[in-house]
Amino acid sequence: MTVLVNGAAGGVGHFAVQLAKWKGAHVIAVASGRHEQFLRKLGADEFIDYTRTQAADVVSGVDLVIDTVGGPDSSRFLTVLKRGGTMLPVFFAQYDPEETASLGITVSNIQVRSNGRQLAEIGRLFDEGTLQVGVDSTYPLSEAGSAHTRAAQGHIQGKIVLTVVS
Ligand SMILES: NC(=O)c1ccc[n+]([C@@H]2O[C@H](COP(=O)([O-])OP(=O)(O)OC[C@H]3O[C@@H](n4cnc5c(N)ncnc54)[C@H](OP(=O)(O)O)[C@@H]3O)[C@@H](O)[C@H]2O)c1
Repeated sequence: MTVLVNGAAGGVGHFAVQLAKWKGAHVIAVASGRHEQFLRKLGADEFIDYTRTQAADVVSGVDLVIDTVGGPDSSRFLTVLKRGGTMLPVFFAQYDPEETASLGITVSNIQVRSNGRQLAEIGRLFDEGTLQVGVDSTYPLSEAGSAHTRAAQGHIQGKIVLTVVS
């Protein structure tokens, strides 16, 4: 299976890349150029710098697109999918049902939900080193406002961490 992750370096995307690799997929990561080394280390097989190249111009036949970015032109990723492929936006998204039907694409809208069994399995994957957490930056809880400022600047690589002194 070929999986394309848009926003691949971010908090959601860098885990999507690693989980797709864990499942044996060929992974195409889309992010700005500064993240290429980070994403290749996490297992990305191909890297597209969206500031230079539009994925839809160079990619086709993908089984699954995980889009963590969205925006008004998010439907541009529909054409990289093959017939029978799946679009998985991690934001609330609406695609033209006529367009998705004519392309033969399924749109899957999911939201975070608690699942103890899955969390236990993910914990095991972290313990054994299969999954890694990219840390963009770390702030004490008392400086949570600075963490929000960092988040608003964009270009996040991994997660922003708040530390709590016990
Ligand atoms: N459905 C759910 O359960 C769920 C759970 C958590 C989060 N979310 C949602 O998922 C989205 C992403 O969250 P996040 O925590 O991963 O955000 P994040 O950490 O800020 O990551 C976003 C990433 O997208 C990249 N990016 C920005 N513009 C881009 C573009 N045009 N093309 C490709 N990459 C681009 C950014 O870096 P570069 O521009 O430098 O590449 C950054 O690495 C948010 O809308 C959030 O609300 C949904």
